Amino acid sequence: MNMRKVVFTLAVGMFGLIEPSTAAPNLKHGKEIEDQKCYKCHADKSGFGDGTIIYTRKDRRVQNLERLKVMVARCNTELRLDLFPEDEADVTAYLNQQYYKFKP
Ligand code: HEC
Repeated sequence: MNMRKVVFTLAVGMFGLIEPSTAAPNLKHGKEIEDQKCYKCHADKSGFGDGTIIYTRKDRRVQNLERLKVMVARCNTELRLDLFPEDEADVTAYLNQQYYKFKP
């Protein structure tokens, strides 16, 4: 293998390592996480048996994208749900697309 090829191979390899965290958020994965880890508790807490009302109620706490990120992170850390930062990003993107619809 000549030097050029080595450099090229390394560059592609490194790009492969970096790529996942810079990829666009995975909305389908975000929905799965919401279904599995978030929905039930929100349903119980709201008292309506519907876990989506917490995101759409009139006096909801989240009024912009920054707050949405903060609330997702707060539920995640305080409740020890063990989401990775990529998971948080996926759920945040899903909730925004589905309910909040803030401009990026
Ligand atoms: C064990 C219960 C519980 C779990 C599990 C939980 N949450 Fe929550 N979440 C709450 C409660 C309670 C509130 C309301 C907090 C308040 O009004 O101060 C809330 C509020 C929120 C809000 C703000 C809604 C609004 O606009 O008013 C977001 C966003 C949110 N949670 C995201 C998540 C996500 C994402 C997950 C899963 C990764 C999750 N939560 C899991 C209890 C939970």
